[in-house]
Amino acid sequence: MTNTTQHTEHTQKVYKPAPEYRNDARIKDYDLSYLNFQKDPEDFWRRIASDLLWFRPWDKVKDWEYPHARWFVNAKCNITYNCLERHLKNNRRNKVALFWRGEDGTEKIYTYDRLYKAVMQFANALQDLGVEKGDVVCIYMPTVPEQVIAMLACARIGAVHTVVFAGYGASSLNQRIVGSEAKVVITADASMRRGKSIPLKPIVEEALIHAPSVERVVVLRIQDPPTCLLDDFEVDFYQIMKKAEKNCPAEVMDAEDTLFILYTSGTTGAPKGIVHTCGGYMVGAYYTTKYVLNVKDDDVYWCTADPGWITGHTYAIYGPLLLGSTIFMTEHTPDYPDVGIWWQLIESYGINVFYTAPTAIRMFMRYGEDWPNEYDLSSLRILASVGEPLNPEAFEWFYKVIGKQRCPIIDTWWQTETGSHMITTLAGEEMKPGYAGKPIPGIMADVIDKDGNPVPPHQAGYLAITAPWPSMMRHVHNDEERYKSYWNTGKQPYYSTNDLAIKDEDGYIMILGRSDDLIIVSGHNIGTAEVESALISHHAVAEAAAIGKPDAVKGNLLKVFVILIEGKIVNEKLIHDLKYHVRQTLGPIAVPSEIEFVDSLPKTRSGKIMRRVLKAQEMGIDPGDISTLDE
Ligand code: WT7
Repeated sequence: MTNTTQHTEHTQKVYKPAPEYRNDARIKDYDLSYLNFQKDPEDFWRRIASDLLWFRPWDKVKDWEYPHARWFVNAKCNITYNCLERHLKNNRRNKVALFWRGEDGTEKIYTYDRLYKAVMQFANALQDLGVEKGDVVCIYMPTVPEQVIAMLACARIGAVHTVVFAGYGASSLNQRIVGSEAKVVITADASMRRGKSIPLKPIVEEALIHAPSVERVVVLRIQDPPTCLLDDFEVDFYQIMKKAEKNCPAEVMDAEDTLFILYTSGTTGAPKGIVHTCGGYMVGAYYTTKYVLNVKDDDVYWCTADPGWITGHTYAIYGPLLLGSTIFMTEHTPDYPDVGIWWQLIESYGINVFYTAPTAIRMFMRYGEDWPNEYDLSSLRILASVGEPLNPEAFEWFYKVIGKQRCPIIDTWWQTETGSHMITTLAGEEMKPGYAGKPIPGIMADVIDKDGNPVPPHQAGYLAITAPWPSMMRHVHNDEERYKSYWNTGKQPYYSTNDLAIKDEDGYIMILGRSDDLIIVSGHNIGTAEVESALISHHAVAEAAAIGKPDAVKGNLLKVFVILIEGKIVNEKLIHDLKYHVRQTLGPIAVPSEIEFVDSLPKTRSGKIMRRVLKAQEMGIDPGDISTLDE
């Protein structure tokens, strides 16, 4: 990259973890652990994989033929055998696997034994419907235990699940059903959201109008009175389960067989079906939940992500179940019935490890400290974040107000495509607000220029993963060209993340935003994240989004959209203050030319700001695919 802004202006804060956290961390010495990995990467992954149960061992740990890798070659396994039987054998039969809380206060509890039995029986029910190994099952359900059961039941019999977030509309659902050629759709009649029952089944009906692959629909009926079903085509979740055999041995899967397809949106074109496999994904999910999130055996663990996203797959379900942990799951949104509900749940379930997203943290910041301060949060041991850069302001708030300066903040960088964590600060390591952290042992990553050469510290470049890893995506479903576009040949092939980043002298990596969100003002590159982060560090600002607006003179003007903290008022002085504040933080090049105050920002359903929608609005052009836009 040319003309890169130097990112050295601000003094960097460093937080040292308390000694008890160093001792508590599973990776106590990062350098040593990383060195061990570098000495023999295959042996590193072999040792981790050996914790899990395999029906047949691998002949080779890795087989890398650019741009395709196979891991644990010829090994046979089943992820549910490791999520269920493995714990029954290890005396966790009566341990709580899942606590679930409904919006109306209903609670459901599954021990490992109960979950095991439910999964087996529902797996048989799917087989009775004609679902076979390799068939695709689309799951379009609210966040209820039956969703977890449905996913695991698919994995049990070797069916490929493709989970679609229940907030998507009919055309997005149709696109995903058609794209994956799903044979069965599992849904519910309704979903509870903010005190209202939102019908799901009519959306499925509409989505199925042009979806010839679908043979059956399974409906979980939670409405009272129960929704009517269409004979033969639609069946009731619990009715088919009751009729099914109880015992269902785990299907023997090849490590490279597909476990699931999960759709993720690109900035242009149709959503991509990211394909993950049975062996490598399992090892990545297990390793990172254990060593990064540091979940311990008597913890209650809560990842707030919906199972419809990769974070939900890996860290709300598979990772913790692989560890034999106790999961907490809820359909509660963070702001209903009020913005204290999540803290109340943490208090009442004694949550120890809490994993959420910057968008939620910034939402809470907007309403102030009084809400969390109402509750006893002393059970918390680890706080983690994912999805967007955790800007220093949000870091500080999370660290002080929620973690009471005790809990490490684990800012995990990764992607749907990577399957599991790649770059993060580990518990027990020094934390630098604004920086995600270093590549975890097992992962090789660097910040490079467009020719593939590493850039010097504090200069922006492209974030690349420079060696294959077990949980990497294997394909983009039916689109080899798109898969290939992630890989870059050069002196050394690497996986391009499409994120911009800088690295400091200690190897800590700061994510600057997506490279397609890059703003070039007068020839200088500015990452959206750094401008937004600078604005949010002003006491009046709750959220911000930055875009480049084409300009005849400068190439681009920097325009920002700002949401103020509750009660703050717009006036000339504030506008002046904000500009001055950005100048002080980032320098004159990053001072916005235009500031617009708004009440909300266009976001994806998973909470990421959609800058291209703002930009299109600004320029009066078509925003492209907006199927992922939240209402
Ligand atoms: C993109 C991946 C992976 C789980 C959720 C999102 C951004 C993700 C961080 C972080 C800065 C982050 C990146 C990445 N991102 N985590 N800790 N710090 N940016 O999955 O929808 O596949 O999005 O989210 O831009 O490339 P996804």
